[in-house]
Amino acid sequence: MKVLGILGSPRIGGNSDILLDQALAGAQEAGAEVEKIILSRKRISGCLDCGKCNETGICVIKDDMGEIHEKILEADAVIHSVPLYFWAMTSQMKAYLDRWCAFFDEQWNMQKAYRLKFKGKRMGLITVCGDSNASASDPIVHSFKNTSDIVGLRWMGVVRASAGAKGEITRNEAVKKKAYELGKKSATPSVVSQK
Ligand SMILES: Cc1cc2nc3c(=O)[nH]c(=O)nc-3n(C[C@H](O)[C@H](O)[C@H](O)COP(=O)(O)O)c2cc1C
Repeated sequence: MKVLGILGSPRIGGNSDILLDQALAGAQEAGAEVEKIILSRKRISGCLDCGKCNETGICVIKDDMGEIHEKILEADAVIHSVPLYFWAMTSQMKAYLDRWCAFFDEQWNMQKAYRLKFKGKRMGLITVCGDSNASASDPIVHSFKNTSDIVGLRWMGVVRASAGAKGEITRNEAVKKKAYELGKKSATPSVVSQK
């Protein structure tokens, strides 16, 4: 069992990083091998909509997304953690997510070559926003839940958190526990998906 954590915040050691570490600790506790990818340390360009990947399943842009694409294919679960920037996901996370295009053909069906790799794969999400109403991050949830559905992934759910200052989330034991449980669940084969 492999669980991949994708960090969309450029603030290393910040709130979404802390919660992602919690989730990965939960996954490890459940016996998974875990890996964290920090998107701000990678070179990932925006999708060009050239359509080539729809034919080949491979993006024409030669940057770090190629290696991440492979890791997604190999993972049993992918947990994304991202703060809210101007009522949307960060630019690092958006550039990464748009490059998921390479998993699809021109009809937005999963590329035949990848179907087996995606079977049973799980997706989870952690969002953090400065707003005391954590549902301010719902546009991000909408993006990831719809992506999960269109790809046919098993949705593990979302942990929404509110925090502003770097590391503030450390004091929120309840949300840290939720992130830990999300990780644990993502690494547990018998768990059924939920909203
Ligand atoms: C450029 C930028 C835009 C932001 N926009 C929002 C926003 O629209 N709504 C909100 O509630 N918080 C917003 N925030 C606050 C962050 O979501 C908040 O500080 C969060 O804890 C950052 O998470 P991190 O520590 O994982 O980077 C913004 C922060 C930055 C730097």
